[in-house]
Amino acid sequence: MPSYLRAGALPPKRHIQFRRPDGKLYAEELLSTQGFESVYSLLYHLNPPTATLDVKPWRRPESVFSPNEPLRNRHFRVGRIKTSGDAISSRKPILGNDDIVICVAEAIEAMPYFYRTVRGDELLFIHSGRGSIETPLGTLDYRANDYVVIPVGITYRLQPKDATRMLVYETSGPVQIPKKYRNEFGQLGEHAPYYERDFRGPAARDPIDERGEFEIRVAGKERNAIYTVAYHPCDVVGWDGYCYPYAFNLEEFAPITGKLHQPPPAHQTFEAPGAAFCAFVPRLFDYHPLAIPVPYNHSSVDCDEVLYYVSGNFMSRRGIEEGSITLHTAGAPHGPQPGAVEQSLGKKSTDEVAVMVDTFAPLHIAQAARACEDEQYYRSWVAEPAQI
Ligand SMILES: [Fe+2]
Repeated sequence: MPSYLRAGALPPKRHIQFRRPDGKLYAEELLSTQGFESVYSLLYHLNPPTATLDVKPWRRPESVFSPNEPLRNRHFRVGRIKTSGDAISSRKPILGNDDIVICVAEAIEAMPYFYRTVRGDELLFIHSGRGSIETPLGTLDYRANDYVVIPVGITYRLQPKDATRMLVYETSGPVQIPKKYRNEFGQLGEHAPYYERDFRGPAARDPIDERGEFEIRVAGKERNAIYTVAYHPCDVVGWDGYCYPYAFNLEEFAPITGKLHQPPPAHQTFEAPGAAFCAFVPRLFDYHPLAIPVPYNHSSVDCDEVLYYVSGNFMSRRGIEEGSITLHTAGAPHGPQPGAVEQSLGKKSTDEVAVMVDTFAPLHIAQAARACEDEQYYRSWVAEPAQI
C-alpha cells in the first residue's frame, strides 16, 4: 500500500446517502483489513455486493509438502515444469510453510471466473508475458518484471494477452513496503530504492451494470468456496482509500550499491509475515579497488533463502537456468561456486535479474519441486581437482 488513492464518483462524506441518477442508493462497501485497525477502502457499487445466489464447496487439488530432509541446499529446475490453464488453475506450489506458499503458474487462458483470497495478500512476480487484472477498483495492466500486490479480499480476474509465466507468493498477511524506507508520515524516504511515483494503481473503468450469475472462487487455507452472485463484481462507480492492487516494475527499482558488497536487505522490496522479499537487478558492482563483486560465503543461520532466477548471467551460481529456484537453507553455508570469485574480479556491472524471499520458518518442499530437483546441487561447491 503506497499511499491514498481515489477514483470515480464519491459522496462528499463517507457513510452518507449517495444516489444513482435513477434515485436509488449506491451500495457502499467498506473493505477493511485486520478488523477495522489497518488499511481500508470504501467502494460504491451500483448493486449490492452481498447478493449471493449460491455457495458450493471448491475442492482444490491438495498440495503435498514434505520436510527438507536431509536438510541441505537445493536447486529446482522450475522453468521446466509444464503447467497450463488460467492464472489460478495453473498454479503449482513449490515450497511452503505456515506463513507463505511459493507457487509457479503459467496463465495461457483468461479466467472465466473471479477469484479472491481470504488468507493474506498475494504477491505476483511476472516473469514473462503481459495482460491485465480486472478488479472492482479498476484494471491493472501488467508486463514482464512487474511485482503485483493483490491485497486479501480484492476480487480479481487475470486476463493474459500473452502466455504469462509468473511466480506467486501466497502470504498469510499484508504485503508491505518496509518501514525502514518510510519517514514518520509514511512517505517513502529519499534513501528508499523506489518512490511513490513508481507504483501503478488500477486504471479507472466504466462500471458494469449487469444482473446474472457471476462466479467468484474464494480461496483460503482449508477455507475454499465457489460463490455465485447476482451482479457483476466490477460495478463500482468510485472508491477511495489505502487498500488496492498495485504494480511496480523492476525497471523502476534504483538499486543501492556501495564501495563494498551490499547485503540483501539493501535490495529489499516488500515484507510480509514471516517473509522478506528482495530483488537483484542490473547494477554497477562495488567500487573499492580490491572489491570482490560476487557475494561472500554466507551462513543464514535462522532463515531459508529462496532465489528465483529471471534473466541475465548468474555469475555466482553454477548450473542455474532461467526459471530455476535455489533453496539455501538454514544449517548449510552457501556462496559462489569454485572459480566464481576469481572470474568476477574486475567486473564492473551485472545484468542479472533475480527475486528472492527469505522465510523465518523452515520451508517444506512440494511434490512438483521434487520432480524437477537437481539432486547434485548441494555438491556444486566442491572444486574439481584442477581448480584446487
Ligand atoms: Fe545468502
